[in-house]
Amino acid sequence: MTKRSATLIIDGQPHIELPMHSGTLGHDVIDIGSLGDHNVFTYDPGFSATAACQSDITYIDGEKGVLLHRGYPIEVLAEKSDYLETCYLLFEGYLPTADQKADFEKTIRYHTMVNRSMEQFISGFRYDAHPMAMLCGLVGAMSSFYHDSLDITNQQHRTISAHRLIAKMPTMAAMCHKHFIGQPYIYPDNSLSYAENFLHMMFSTPCEDYPVHPALTRAMDRIFLLHADHEQNASTSTVRLAGSSGANPFACIAAGIAALWGPAHGGANEAVLNMLSEIGDEKNIPKFVLKAKDKNDPFRLMGFGHRVYKNHDPRATVMRESCNEVLTVLGLENDPLFKLAKKLEQFALEDDYFISKKLYPNVDFYSGIILKALGIPVEMFTGIFATGRTVGWVSHWNEMITNAYRIGRPRQLYTGPALRDFPPIEER
Ligand code: ACO
Repeated sequence: MTKRSATLIIDGQPHIELPMHSGTLGHDVIDIGSLGDHNVFTYDPGFSATAACQSDITYIDGEKGVLLHRGYPIEVLAEKSDYLETCYLLFEGYLPTADQKADFEKTIRYHTMVNRSMEQFISGFRYDAHPMAMLCGLVGAMSSFYHDSLDITNQQHRTISAHRLIAKMPTMAAMCHKHFIGQPYIYPDNSLSYAENFLHMMFSTPCEDYPVHPALTRAMDRIFLLHADHEQNASTSTVRLAGSSGANPFACIAAGIAALWGPAHGGANEAVLNMLSEIGDEKNIPKFVLKAKDKNDPFRLMGFGHRVYKNHDPRATVMRESCNEVLTVLGLENDPLFKLAKKLEQFALEDDYFISKKLYPNVDFYSGIILKALGIPVEMFTGIFATGRTVGWVSHWNEMITNAYRIGRPRQLYTGPALRDFPPIEER
């Protein structure tokens, strides 16, 4: 194959030849790493046109609505696989055999408990602490419990840390919920599946077990699966950047959780439900849609639009299916809040503004509705997203450490004052 390059000419200076690289799929990239030698940097706030790394894990084609994990379409994984198998695929790079799958499930089960000191740690939080605030703290604190696996240059240590994170996230997320509602923590039951166990820890009490309908377990598993990874999004990029300094995996994942919390990212599923409550009634939909279209109003329809998907979000299609199934199983089709959500979806899908700007319901629109129908309080929504995404974060972190990497250190376009004299205080 001929080597391709791009030529950059700055103010008639001699040409700068920049090598180009091609991936397996997707756009070619221009390698600008040498530009610093020419005393010039590129400027791309928001990274709209910048590939910050090379990765084998996930591929997205936003125009065509394609999402592949290690080459497998998300729709196929949602239909034929389950969350833990997808975790194995993302982290290891290939689908497990039956024995490998069974071993992996056993390992994750084995690691579901957390150190009892974690309970005291959570008790220190105020009764109404947001679960994401607690999760950030708990995951960061994990580095103080597992000194035996913190050597990031050791693949075995990295794998054990990944297993611990995947296994303990549902336990910690459920503990945050129990603290929030003032109920005793429920220990994991290792005879249950990953999703079933999570619902058990969320909803059982020491006085009463919570029997879970298989359709609801399936929907929960799908929520984890559909959130498992999404390429170089804000939180994953944060994990990579934190990891590039050599920080331990728990510290890096805590940084990812913090980045996920924002309403433009993982906080959107919570924001969807808050928005639906604010809209309140079908008759108010046109007013809120007008607000969303008003350039002078910061209000946006939460759960609509995506930085990458400009056609449809393939996860949203699958999630929509699960959403309908859950509402039917729970007999909630006529619940006013869910009817309102359906009307809003229909209204926006037929509105010229949303059509022309390619703003479709994203995965969080439907996941928020499912979680609400399952009886999960909105404050927990982003923590559930974080639980599902942990495998993606840790897979990207592991990939980065495995390959050659340098500390991430973006440059800037400085627009502050030029050099100036320091005035004595009486002259200011
Ligand atoms: N409601 C109304 N208008 C919107 C919306 C929305 N939800 N989203 C984008 N727009 C408009 C913008 O005002 C902008 O209009 P303009 O071209 O006239 O200025 C145009 O569409 C493009 O929007 P950008 O903000 O430039 O798009 P960007 O790619 O930066 O943002 C984002 C994507 C953050 C997801 C945005 O669509 C948004 O805020 N959506 C609501 C929050 C949300 O649902 N986030 C979840 C993302 S999915 C996830 O994290 C799993």
